[in-house]
Amino acid sequence: MIKLITPENMVHMRTVGRMMANLLNACCDYVRPGVTTGEIDAFARAYIKTLGDGTAQSGCLGYNGYPGALCISVNEEVIHGIPGARVLQRGDIVSLDVCGSYHGFYGDNTRTIVVGGAEAVTADVRRLLRVTRQSLETAVQAIRPGVHLSDISHLVEKTVAEGGCTVVREYTGHGVGRHLHEDPPVPNYGKPGRGPILHEGMTLAIEPMVNLGKAAVRVLSDGWTVVSRDGLPTAHFEYTVAVLKDGAEILTPWYEADPWSADWMKS
Ligand code: MF3
Ligand code: CO
Repeated sequence: MIKLITPENMVHMRTVGRMMANLLNACCDYVRPGVTTGEIDAFARAYIKTLGDGTAQSGCLGYNGYPGALCISVNEEVIHGIPGARVLQRGDIVSLDVCGSYHGFYGDNTRTIVVGGAEAVTADVRRLLRVTRQSLETAVQAIRPGVHLSDISHLVEKTVAEGGCTVVREYTGHGVGRHLHEDPPVPNYGKPGRGPILHEGMTLAIEPMVNLGKAAVRVLSDGWTVVSRDGLPTAHFEYTVAVLKDGAEILTPWYEADPWSADWMKS
């Protein structure tokens, strides 16, 4: 069952969404060559205590026994990388997936960044990042009441395919509200015109996971870390969005710290 957020409760979704975006951006700012993923996790744990009245909680920590305050996935790691002793190097691409709750509502968001700046990676990796971000932004722009959820899924898949990359199929976006994971699942592929129709008050985590090589993934023996089977780099961007009368509102506005020129919309 898809739960709707009332206009009164949308205030809480905005509050937690902005908190999670601020936390995500602060973690991204903390990344530099030589930092360990465990240090980022410690930074996130301290930062989360400074949010609002101090009661914000990580949505990752303890989720099915997950040990980190956020997920940190490097290079061929798609999602659910566990923070630890790994030292980040110039040229690594790092996905930081930050989710959490405040006053009973959840937000969820992800950025993939390049350690040492975009010049530290190949043109192919820059394409991967561009295409993944583009697939998210294109999907969000198409969200409004009355469209089928699978229209959004299809747009992600199409954008990714046109960019010469592949969509991970085993994991999806999801509804998010009073729980981190709610109905409906939001696949990043599919035929248009199917499945649920979007209504005002739905709140969704849209999160394309995109590979530079083949789409296949596997889970490492730690039981969590999902990697591309071919070992090629992979990227992940995510917003929590609300479906409103005139379109989507991005509830996790991390883009304020990572502006995206509108140029890619042309041609
Ligand atoms: N933020 C992740 C998502 O989009 C959830 C991570 S749960 C964890 O669903 F346990 F893996 F951390
Ligand atoms: Co999510």
